[in-house]
Amino acid sequence: MGQGKGIAILGIYVADTAYLAGRMPRIGETLQGTGFSLGPGGKGSNQAVAAGRAGAEVCFISKIGDDPFGKMALEIYAQSGVTPKVEVMSDMPSGAAFIFVNDETGENAIIVYPGAAGTISASDVEAQREVIEGAAVFVTQLEQPAEAALAALRMARAAGVTTVFNPAPANPFDPECFGLSDYFVPNESEAAAIVGFDIVSDEDARRAGEDFLSRGVRTALITLGERGVYIHSPEISRRIPAVTNAPVIDTAGAGDAFIGGFAAALAEGCGVEEAVRFGCATAGIAVTRRGTAPAMPDRAEIDALLRQGAAA
Ligand code: ATP
Ligand code: RIB
Repeated sequence: MGQGKGIAILGIYVADTAYLAGRMPRIGETLQGTGFSLGPGGKGSNQAVAAGRAGAEVCFISKIGDDPFGKMALEIYAQSGVTPKVEVMSDMPSGAAFIFVNDETGENAIIVYPGAAGTISASDVEAQREVIEGAAVFVTQLEQPAEAALAALRMARAAGVTTVFNPAPANPFDPECFGLSDYFVPNESEAAAIVGFDIVSDEDARRAGEDFLSRGVRTALITLGERGVYIHSPEISRRIPAVTNAPVIDTAGAGDAFIGGFAAALAEGCGVEEAVRFGCATAGIAVTRRGTAPAMPDRAEIDALLRQGAAA
């Protein structure tokens, strides 16, 4: 882990507009929904909220608009212990996401428009050098421009900060990012898009992990939904099972909950297996609630689920 303190996260904030229905509408069709919610979202922002609620010191680097959606972001950061390093733009709106949630299975499909955060550049990253270099752990994803992710990963690595790269969504990125990733954290479909085969079994996950290591990654963590997380590094290759404590109703943001919890545990000095279990417990609670950032659990809830798992 880096010598600094806490976590720095670069990513986007958007307002999530979530529609519950039995299925997606076809083109030209209007479908009656069964529920709606508006709340804070965006992968990086969700990860920051998850880590903050889990007890970490977190700075979130992004851009928002000077509008009601942007105000919602600042409110949840204040409630979740996240320090916003966020530029408020007067000429761009905050982004928004359309989220379809299947009201029977909890599965989702998303369209995201990053808005102000879509303009994050390498020079915006440079402006946050002190925050990134002063962290113990740095986290980013691919919802903001990939050049910004690359610039920040380079900066973090050069300063000895532990890096967590979540290549989500499955957008193109510079292959240099593999070698800059202490932890490379794709989900099954993001991993499959890179390695060119489906991740169905643990053996597939191990093979994908080996592929990532050959590209320069130090440890691969492939999230496998209800099957948990596959860890692959030169020292360890095994799957940590998912855990939960109630019926699963909405898996949107599960990956973000895992990454926020994982980063919080890393920043406390936990080893990889312990940090993955902590991330799985964080996500295992988030999937039992509706929404993305608002579903993130607090530290006491995560500890209680971990104790329950240890006693089982
Ligand atoms: P999303 O894109 O919806 O945010 P994702 O596809 O990035 O999620 P997943 O691999 O689906 O990420 O889930 C991340 C983690 O969340 C899993 O590794 C697991 O720990 C937890 N999780 C997901 N689904 C379930 C479930 N049904 N029950 C318990 N835990 C779950
Ligand atoms: O990972 C879930 C997030 O992806 C949602 O909050 C949505 O905003 C999209 O960015």
